[in-house]
Amino acid sequence: MPLLSATVALLSFAGPSASLRLSPAAPRMSAVDAPPQQAASPAPDAISSSAPLHVLIAGGGVGGLALANCLELSDAPVTYTVLERTSEFKKFGGPIQLASNAMQGFRSIDEELYKQIEARATWTGNRTNGIKDGVRDEWYAKFDLRSPAESREMPFTCVVERPELQEILMRRTHDNLRLGAGVESYGKRSDGGVVATLQTGEQVHGDVLIGADGIWSNVRAAMTETPARGEGSGVTYSGYTASEEKPDGSSPYLQKLFEGWSPEIHDILRVTQEHEIEQRDLYDRPPSVLKPWNKGRVALLGDAIHAMMPNLGQGGCQALEDALVISEQLTSLSSRGEIEGALQGYRNRRLTPLGAVQGLSRFASDIIIRGFDTPAKLGFSGGKLVAENLNYAGVVTRLLQPILPVFFAVQFAFLYDGWENKFSLKQLQIGLSIFAFGSLFLIAFAATAGSEEVLNSLGGGPPGL
Ligand SMILES: *[C@@H]1O[C@H](CO)[C@@H](O)[C@H](O)[C@H]1NC(C)=O
Repeated sequence: MPLLSATVALLSFAGPSASLRLSPAAPRMSAVDAPPQQAASPAPDAISSSAPLHVLIAGGGVGGLALANCLELSDAPVTYTVLERTSEFKKFGGPIQLASNAMQGFRSIDEELYKQIEARATWTGNRTNGIKDGVRDEWYAKFDLRSPAESREMPFTCVVERPELQEILMRRTHDNLRLGAGVESYGKRSDGGVVATLQTGEQVHGDVLIGADGIWSNVRAAMTETPARGEGSGVTYSGYTASEEKPDGSSPYLQKLFEGWSPEIHDILRVTQEHEIEQRDLYDRPPSVLKPWNKGRVALLGDAIHAMMPNLGQGGCQALEDALVISEQLTSLSSRGEIEGALQGYRNRRLTPLGAVQGLSRFASDIIIRGFDTPAKLGFSGGKLVAENLNYAGVVTRLLQPILPVFFAVQFAFLYDGWENKFSLKQLQIGLSIFAFGSLFLIAFAATAGSEEVLNSLGGGPPGL
């Protein structure tokens, strides 16, 4: 499978950034407990400035903090508390791609917030993007990220260091952020509210709980009564990384691993310092369009409900879109009785776009990992006919080559037009055609890879079902 997505390569080799701490002066404990009247007495049905809606957000990742910013800037009578497991934000996860739809989303929250992110951006959406043949150093397919953004007057796609993005997202919200306060489980109050139980045993009361606590979500585990990790959690290891010993260091190990690949890869490997190399294992969950997103006054956001492979670079972007929609749904309420319906509305608005994006992301990992081969090549060299890689997989890969850019163009149109998550027939049509197109691709590759797993991923079931 010597084809490498340019995005994956870029994300894996970019350098790390400084670890991030809240300044010691930042309040940690005070001022963030649920309003006392909520813990003591039943909350009134009406939402007002004297009895504001209190939203508990489990998880201070990009999705949780984006939601916090939306609520912070809202005029509605809403308060919030972010409950984050770690006691200190460490450098984690390297760069995150913010595609045009995500940048537009941040801009819609606040122009100033957008400007701060823009100042840290490394722009990629106006450069050459595509999938490159990792052995021959030739572009297998290029895709245009620039014109779909320009024609919609949206910012270009960029990458930002995740810790820097988190720091920006905490500037306004850190007073309502509690560290070392991971949510272990939750229960229901007799007045309909939610009680979150923290890792410390402490209970925090609120009107709504949003589980933005990532792929190993405890909120999801409590909602669906399944374990957060391991068998039954639905999380699958995607097996990208190696765990062998590296006695000479990671860089020599990687150079050896990529022996025979294009010089471009070796140029990158040679200039990458030991301390800049991190091992990051990739996990995935099958598309979860059929699994519960919400129950009562609790809903899931981001990786907790739709973890996806990084091939599309849409993980963080889709979490942000979730946050925008949840905020719209919750800040328009006038009574607590409407919360459950509002969360159901969130799910309904996000289901079609996410089903399409998540299916695509998984489909991309299936073809890149299992199906793709170096494309077959016929040509003349020194007056003789030369055939390279003229096997079945090579031929199928070659046949798909002209179709792929069209496929990507449709996909970007879908993502960029849909960032507001308002229902439109056009979006539904594009979504369905992406699904049909993707299915045909997968069937072609299932034959190539001789793998039932590829076909299984169409149905979203775990391999072997
Ligand atoms: C890409 O866009 C950014 C932001 O608008 C700009 O600063 C940069 O110069 C552009 N790069 C190219 C190669 O056009």
